[in-house]
Amino acid sequence: MLITWWYLYLAARSIVKQTLNMASILQKLITPLFSGTPEPARNKVTVVGVGQVGMACAVSILLRELADELALVDVMEDKLKGEMMDLQHGSLFLKTPKIVASKDYSVTANSRIVVVTAGVRQQEGESRLNLVQRNVNIFKHIIPQIIKHSPKCIIIVVSNPVDVLTYVTWKLSGLPKHRVIGSGTNLDSARFRYLMAEKLGIHATSFNGWILGEHGDTSVPVWSGTNVAGVNLQTLNPDIGTDADQENWKETHKQVVDSAYEVIKLKGYTNWAIGLSVADLTESLIRNMNRIHPVSTMVKGMYGIDDEVYLSLPCVLNAGGVASVVNMTLTDDEIGQIKQSADTLWDIQKDLTDV
Ligand SMILES: NC(=O)c1ccc[n+]([C@@H]2O[C@H](COP(=O)([O-])OP(=O)(O)OC[C@H]3O[C@@H](n4cnc5c(N)ncnc54)[C@H](O)[C@@H]3O)[C@@H](O)[C@H]2O)c1
Repeated sequence: MLITWWYLYLAARSIVKQTLNMASILQKLITPLFSGTPEPARNKVTVVGVGQVGMACAVSILLRELADELALVDVMEDKLKGEMMDLQHGSLFLKTPKIVASKDYSVTANSRIVVVTAGVRQQEGESRLNLVQRNVNIFKHIIPQIIKHSPKCIIIVVSNPVDVLTYVTWKLSGLPKHRVIGSGTNLDSARFRYLMAEKLGIHATSFNGWILGEHGDTSVPVWSGTNVAGVNLQTLNPDIGTDADQENWKETHKQVVDSAYEVIKLKGYTNWAIGLSVADLTESLIRNMNRIHPVSTMVKGMYGIDDEVYLSLPCVLNAGGVASVVNMTLTDDEIGQIKQSADTLWDIQKDLTDV
């Protein structure tokens, strides 16, 4: 009996000693200079939806060192916590000191940028527009929560159909139109530039070309503006992009339109290219760069479009959001195609309920 008490006494003494030692290490190492609350994050980025696309966005944003705090939100709590811990364990290799996650939107408070990737994913062979009402219902829950906690944020919508959901986000958020941006044809244009540059044997950044309009099936390649080092390709081949073109450059745009379907068929989803492209947009916003990107913006009144639709035009992005839209010189045919994109989108939007 006496021996048991003796062992208990020794164990308790050891615990007390360890605690005192730990406290004393902290006290010896750190001399606090103030006891107030720490400075809040200045460049906080939230990613809503930690699926394949959300995590690709999160990792790309982390690797480009754009955020001083990253918040993740999802409805799947275990997956969310697992993703948060996995990223936190990479802190040694990152420059974002705070990574947090919760299904409660208070964790997103005071975000500068909120990237929305939540939603149901496109199935093999399913058009983006088919996804629409399913994702609208999800957005009705998400968007008011974002605004409640970050009323001054800029929202980048990624979920598909991205142009319609950007319009829905604008309506649900009450934010001014320049603070609601859809990733739009930023990805389509990147695919176009890569594929064209490959054919010309140059780097993607050295081929200049724009895909505008709807992200996806009715996107519009601006063949009249394609150029390499200032040399307009239409001056070299007046038929470029048309059916009359002997070289069939039009096929490259078809490849762009088909590429998401092809990648989804091969690996089940697309994520890396969209993640990288969203980080590029985030950089222009966070660093106030005034760079021009093809992103989805409210185009009512431009190119003769009368309806409130979001679709992609070349937009100047800075810390305020979409600062301005470049009035690109387009052919009548290209303007006609953009209007057709707008009509396709409005046809869907006009039937949406509770937006
Ligand atoms: N704009 C583009 O260029 C582009 C490119 C690729 C994919 N996408 C779109 O991005 C979206 C996400 O694709 P994915 O492959 O990551 O899908 P995914 O299924 O892997 O992930 C979606 C995530 O959203 C979460 N989610 C669902 N409802 C939610 C809610 N109410 N609140 C918070 N989170 C919620 C899910 O739990 C899941 O983790 C899809 O709509 C897809 O079509 C867009």
